[in-house]
Amino acid sequence: MKPAALIGIVPAPLLVFLGFGGHPGDGERRNPVQPARDEDFFQPPPERVELGRLLYFDKILSGNRNMSCATCHSPIVATTDGLSINIGTGGRGLSVLRDAGTLPLAPIDPVERGQRNMPPLFNLGHKDFVRLFWDGRISVDPAAPQGFRSPAGAELPNGFEHLIEAISIFAPTERQEMTGEAGTNELANAALSAPFTGVWDGLLVRLRAIPEYLDLFSRAFPELGGDPDAFTIVHVGKAVGAFQAVAFRSDDSPFDRYLRGDRSALSPEAVSGMRVFYDRARCAACHSGTFQTDLGFHAIGVPQIGPGFGGVGYAGREDYGRELVSGDRGDRYRFRTPSLRNVALTGPWGHDGFFNSLEGMVRHHLDPHSSLYHADPTQRVLPPRSDLDEIDLVAFDDPATTNAIARRIELAPRHLSDGEVADLLAFMHALTDPRALDLRKTVPQRVPSGLPLAEIREP
Ligand code: HEC
Ligand code: HEC
Repeated sequence: MKPAALIGIVPAPLLVFLGFGGHPGDGERRNPVQPARDEDFFQPPPERVELGRLLYFDKILSGNRNMSCATCHSPIVATTDGLSINIGTGGRGLSVLRDAGTLPLAPIDPVERGQRNMPPLFNLGHKDFVRLFWDGRISVDPAAPQGFRSPAGAELPNGFEHLIEAISIFAPTERQEMTGEAGTNELANAALSAPFTGVWDGLLVRLRAIPEYLDLFSRAFPELGGDPDAFTIVHVGKAVGAFQAVAFRSDDSPFDRYLRGDRSALSPEAVSGMRVFYDRARCAACHSGTFQTDLGFHAIGVPQIGPGFGGVGYAGREDYGRELVSGDRGDRYRFRTPSLRNVALTGPWGHDGFFNSLEGMVRHHLDPHSSLYHADPTQRVLPPRSDLDEIDLVAFDDPATTNAIARRIELAPRHLSDGEVADLLAFMHALTDPRALDLRKTVPQRVPSGLPLAEIREP
């Protein structure tokens, strides 16, 4: 029996399972897509979520008090910034309205531009997300004393239970993201001798000086016994992680409802697109599981733009991806498979936001070599600044880099008709949870530091 004939007579999760004509060894055959379940989400107490919300929006967490998590992971752009590559502490303005500022350009590693596209923060409180960042440099690791492997190594404090808590103390320690340049603030200065603990200790000094935070931490963590100064950076991470886990849970897309058994949730085009995704195009060889990611690392030949990691340990302005973490040359240009929930809302797409249309990103997968060699860099969304613009295309314009990226591609070309691509895109749109369309309710009225929540553009 063909999968099409099964529609309507089997429960939805099973249908998706049977829908695979999977090649032998296809993991999806053994592991059908399961609907997300409440018990698989980390469910923190409300006081902790509320404290985390205030911290997430409070610029006090950045060295120069000019960036909050929300400056980049903005509720107005589905927890991203709408740019190809994020703009760090040297920039001005909020999210899509940010410009690259006027600081003089550092020879390597400029603070005005980051290296990578903003990943969205949806569903990271679900147990499946055991590896985060495009290169997976932070992960759950039962063998590590703290239970997690991270860039801080042995300096990562004990006490985190969930990866989303542990990762939340890292953005303030990133010079380009939140700490800022040495000489401009006490956190950046402390980072010179103690890149992680220096910043974390400095943040605690700041937060403990604000009476409202003392009160909020005591209420969010009764185990502190009411001692207002007893909270540590672990409690900061636990609160910010709790907020993200709850505010950005997003498992009510038409596809989620379909997985839970509502057969009318998907349009006929989306059902056809789902079959293309799981069967004809074998997208689930990598985009597998409830959130459509194997959390593995794959090289699919996305063209590279941006400052990269130029000069830090290797030549050029490219991004070696997973190799930067594993040290294994076989991992060069491999990036973590992104989850596809709300993918229609989170462009530009790819680890460096190269693609400014979802169709362009999807079609890239079908013929990655041709897409790489004929890529149009004018689609990038980067606020112009002539000195940065020059750097942005160094890797892209270098034929040797392009050839090296092409040699690593792990995707076989696949022919799909225009109609199949259109259906595939209808399925991508059916992965949008309507709640993610408007996240304004997550924004607090004010934050305890009294700092402004956002600015459109500073003069
Ligand atoms: C300057 C912009 C910027 C700021 C500010 C920022 N981030 Fe991020 N965030 C990024 C970028 C870029 C990445 C991806 C980095 C990578 O993969 O190498 C990221 C990744 C993440 C991830 C991992 C997502 C995933 O799927 O892998 C989490 C969680 C996260 N940030 C939370 C936070 C929190 C919490 C804050 C505030 C404490 C914050 N970020 C502040 C730019 C920013
Ligand atoms: C070999 C594994 C693999 C297969 C098969 C695969 N993908 Fe991907 N996909 C990835 C990786 C890895 C990325 C990120 C690559 C990068 O940015 O360098 C990605 C990125 C994407 C993105 C962009 C997501 C974002 O947030 O930027 C979309 C959309 C996407 N894939 C859809 C598909 C579709 C549709 C198919 C089937 C036609 C497919 N993928 C097949 C591995 C795969």
